[in-house]
Amino acid sequence: MKGTIVKHSAKVAIAGVGNNISALTQGVRYYANLDAQGVPEADFPGIKRPRVDGLAVYDLDIVAAYDIDERKVGAEFNEAIFQEPNNYPRLGVEMAPIGVVVEKGFSLGEVTDDEVRRIAASLRDSAAEVLLYSLPTGLQWAATAYAEAALAAGVAFVNCTPEIVGRDEDILGRYVSAGLPLIGDDLASHIGTSVVHRSLLALFAERGISLSGSYQLNLGGNEDFRNLREQGASKRQSKLNALAQDGVPLDRVDVIPSAGYVPHLMDHKVAYLNLEGAGWANTPVEVDLKLRVQDSSNAAGVIIDLVRIAAAALRAQQKGFVAAAARLLKSPPMGHPAYEAADIEASFAALSPSAS
Ligand SMILES: NC(=O)c1ccc[n+]([C@@H]2O[C@H](COP(=O)([O-])OP(=O)(O)OC[C@H]3O[C@@H](n4cnc5c(N)ncnc54)[C@H](O)[C@@H]3O)[C@@H](O)[C@H]2O)c1
Repeated sequence: MKGTIVKHSAKVAIAGVGNNISALTQGVRYYANLDAQGVPEADFPGIKRPRVDGLAVYDLDIVAAYDIDERKVGAEFNEAIFQEPNNYPRLGVEMAPIGVVVEKGFSLGEVTDDEVRRIAASLRDSAAEVLLYSLPTGLQWAATAYAEAALAAGVAFVNCTPEIVGRDEDILGRYVSAGLPLIGDDLASHIGTSVVHRSLLALFAERGISLSGSYQLNLGGNEDFRNLREQGASKRQSKLNALAQDGVPLDRVDVIPSAGYVPHLMDHKVAYLNLEGAGWANTPVEVDLKLRVQDSSNAAGVIIDLVRIAAAALRAQQKGFVAAAARLLKSPPMGHPAYEAADIEASFAALSPSAS
């Protein structure tokens, strides 16, 4: 497909240069190398959509980045992604400098109008089209501050976390008034615990198995899991929102976002799922399942679609929530009926009616 790119790469600014971003940017380089070797996009492994509105998976330029960790602030972006405590593996692709130095982001207790103007000016100078918010879970003040800065800069916003931004009617309304896309909240992992759990719950319901109880336990060895031990409340609710998307009652379902931080697991997530119920003549049915995944690849495989959707929507002058993102999120702003009604393929086509 080389030589068929019809659109400029999506220009993306990053808030939070953590594991998700290491996975995203190393993966983008990996796919760019495949393209350079002449591998057809249809043969790229691990990709749902080779193109979104003409943008390939490797059509992504990082143009600005913000963090507060002193090991990352002031570093060249492609060095910052390898700084501890990031522990996503090296994919063996060359990550040459890209000319972006990580800038200091918002700090707790220091979010003033001047600070919002500083980040907004930096976003404008970088010509970013999208600000990708990927901070630790539980920092509602930070999510709001970055969303305000993106709004002031005229930049689309993507919220990877369970903090309430896309579901905040005031913020969403102001993005609509400004003619800007806003995509959130909380990305649904590529093959994560939520989508597997949700599918099994729906299968029980569809087959008429009476659910007596179900749970999921998640374990991991990255910063996200360390943080979720203490800050798991918004994540737990968001995971329950994801499970509710098929309309299955959740009164007997429990979710433990971080059942433990196990350092030697590094960036792997191990999840245990259990479903118990009754089948024919009240005889028992039990499913116990173990899932082991590269946690941040799971995020990157969806972020690549969210940022391309956001850039495409901005270019097509779509504003507010973008329906094409609905199934890629755990907690989209729309209620269940709208979600159920959303024709996802049509919403992708609507990103740009002229795109193939
Ligand atoms: N891995 C997945 O599949 C998945 C799925 C859904 C959501 N998420 C969410 O994505 C988010 C990011 O995950 P991660 O694994 O990359 O986390 P991480 O902890 O590796 O990275 C977070 C980064 O944000 C930085 N940061 C902290 N405060 C900041 C501030 N005020 N301004 C700028 N930067 C700041 C940290 O220094 C770090 O570099 C988490 O909230 C996680 O829950 C991940």
